Amino acid sequence: MLRNDQLEQWDRENFFHPSTHLAQFARGEAPNRVIRTAEGVFIEDRDGNKLLDGFAGLYCVNVGYGRQEIAEAIGEQAKELAYYHAYVGHGTEASITLSKMILDRAPKNMSKVYFGLGGSDANETNVKLIWYYNNILGRPEKKKIISRWRGYHGSGLVTGSLTGLELFHKKFDLPVEQVIHTDAPYYFRRENLDQTEAEFVAECVASLEALIEREGADTIAAFIGEPVLGTGGIVPPPAGYWEAIQAVLKKHDILLVADEVVTGFGRLGTMFGSEHYGIEPDLITIAKGLTSAYAPLSGSIVGDKMWKVLEQGTDENGPIGHGWTYSAHPIGAAAGVANLKLLDELNLVSNAGEVGAYLNKAMSDALAGHANVGDVRGEGMLCAVEFVKDKDSRTFFDAADKIGPQVSAKLLEQDKVIARAMPQGDILGFAPPFCLTREEADTVVAATVRAVKSVLG
Ligand SMILES: Cc1ncc(COP(=O)(O)O)c(C=O)c1O
Repeated sequence: MLRNDQLEQWDRENFFHPSTHLAQFARGEAPNRVIRTAEGVFIEDRDGNKLLDGFAGLYCVNVGYGRQEIAEAIGEQAKELAYYHAYVGHGTEASITLSKMILDRAPKNMSKVYFGLGGSDANETNVKLIWYYNNILGRPEKKKIISRWRGYHGSGLVTGSLTGLELFHKKFDLPVEQVIHTDAPYYFRRENLDQTEAEFVAECVASLEALIEREGADTIAAFIGEPVLGTGGIVPPPAGYWEAIQAVLKKHDILLVADEVVTGFGRLGTMFGSEHYGIEPDLITIAKGLTSAYAPLSGSIVGDKMWKVLEQGTDENGPIGHGWTYSAHPIGAAAGVANLKLLDELNLVSNAGEVGAYLNKAMSDALAGHANVGDVRGEGMLCAVEFVKDKDSRTFFDAADKIGPQVSAKLLEQDKVIARAMPQGDILGFAPPFCLTREEADTVVAATVRAVKSVLG
């Protein structure tokens, strides 16, 4: 194909990129990269650079790139039936099959799947369903949603409010008033360094109890959390956290939403993060790994308890007033069916657990002793390295020093490995495709060591 040399100019003049410094990008001060093709764990840009994608896109290309089985399923679906809606009882073979496949894999007591397009709209659906549920139960005051600081749940109006990251609120007039935040279960960043993990969990629980007390349990509808904090820093919960939090929620009749957009379909080495941590949610958010991002598709898995009330609601009020044109889009559904089959056939969930553990151990062995590495942590195919200015006093670098972004840029420049500089703190995040091999994990670790040395010595 003839190379279009105007592409960079077109990009800077016409394309509004998400999560990008708009002014720097338009002025040509921030890099642009045009990705052309990909295979396995590697992506290739139009200049022929082959990069090892240690973040699977945005932790979503779980089965790896270039899977012909999924591409063919999408192609066949497009030829046979590119679109039909799912309103008033319509469906396709793909969407019905996929809902069955999801429920077969979901934690117990789950009843139905509502399909959307991305994680943000799925959480938007969840909040509407929660409000509807409490209205049907005759408790219109019970509406607030508790989320955690550093949680990530999307960037819409309500979902951007649920997200507990500064950048997603600032200048957008968020959070909206129905959303309130509680502590992140982030042991490494505890205020009191002398605290044990158990004491820290007790503090998280006490702080949640105090929030519920202040606001009034009769005003609080639900609690939303990712099994492992993702974009907020890739932070597995301290031992006992989920058990203790769930006891509080049960006591106050507060619903639990497990946002499994990152952890769903295998990233922790189990099909769901809920399974991994003994979480018993009322709603589960799914997206990313549902199709490994071969086509946009998300879902809200609704538990039995809520489903009964939704049915009661429609008996009393008529059809549910909720739906998108593209709900259960057949092309997304066909991608989902092919993706879940591939996960099983290639045993990728257990590979994520095994190679993920290998990656985490190798990263920790290689870097935990470095004077500026405060923490190496992870679970399954999720791993993070957090940098500190001084280890003994756990002093962080100034954000303006941009240590995380510098290390991530060095990794790319020196060894063509992609890791993500997480948005809040100097944290380097890894979330590779599940097909990563041990040799590729070794490459990622060696490259990270080199990049850390280049930036921090
Ligand atoms: C846990 C979690 N929930 C929700 C979302 C939002 O998904 P989307 O970007 O598809 O709207 C994300 C995206 O990264 C996520 O990590």
